[in-house]
Amino acid sequence: MHPAHLPRPVMPQVPPQQLLLGQKAIVTGASSGIGRAIALALGQAGADVVVNYVAGEDKAEQVCEEIRRCGVRAMAVRADVSDEGQVREMFARMIRQFGTVDVLVNNAGLQQDAAFEDLTLAQWNKVIGINLTGQFLCAREAVREFKRRGVTPEVSCSAGKILCISSVHEVIPWAGHVNYAASKGGVMLMMKSLAQEVAPYRIRVNSICPGAIRTPINMEAWGTPEAYRELLKLIPYKRIGEADEIGRAAVWLASDYADYVHGISLFVDGGMTLYPGFETGG
Ligand code: BGC
Repeated sequence: MHPAHLPRPVMPQVPPQQLLLGQKAIVTGASSGIGRAIALALGQAGADVVVNYVAGEDKAEQVCEEIRRCGVRAMAVRADVSDEGQVREMFARMIRQFGTVDVLVNNAGLQQDAAFEDLTLAQWNKVIGINLTGQFLCAREAVREFKRRGVTPEVSCSAGKILCISSVHEVIPWAGHVNYAASKGGVMLMMKSLAQEVAPYRIRVNSICPGAIRTPINMEAWGTPEAYRELLKLIPYKRIGEADEIGRAAVWLASDYADYVHGISLFVDGGMTLYPGFETGG
């Protein structure tokens, strides 16, 4: 059988480890896709979770319901991450309800694709506003709280963790998606510069860079057999990724198991960043 047709692997069913027991996490854009999977994984790992969303309260509430089944707390909070006032209010609410913030997962993001000459300023601003400025605004609130509280050794050996959900497109240029690639390139150096600045306070900052993950954002790339075949040409590992695989990476990266991991971009992409054109060429 050609490797492209191998079935989806069965993941090991390890018992849920309580790697984040007692920690308070916030995941932006958590009502669907990768954000939802991360929020569920953090809850399974023992964290109380704020599920941020901007539209679709029902879906956010459902995610909270699922998280609560793990025996932890969950709260849906509506906020547009590109709006400074709404972000500040969201963090204030989280701190009132949960006491503090230990983990921020900067996940909210979107695509508004266009050929470059047709790309409107509105599309540019929307994507930069949510994907980059939104990560800045949330990270700033988190850093303020981490510095105020400092390390609580019985909870975690760090004062706080920020996970930026970036993309393979922080390094892979993407024609027809210039605003999106620019936003993710920006996330890369925002993350690394911030990591350098706050490390002395025991605040860890890292990125996860997903490749092609089966979510609504890229349905066009996997929704038909022809599209999927084309997509696999870009993935040496010859399968699309699943959102829960990003969730597991996030649990590890947010946990003290990764305490010495700082300022990195962790690519979870089936090798998409390995110049797949060179599998046969060159
Ligand atoms: C994009 C997806 C795309 C993937 C790989 C992600 O960041 O949001 O649409 O499939 O990168 O190209």
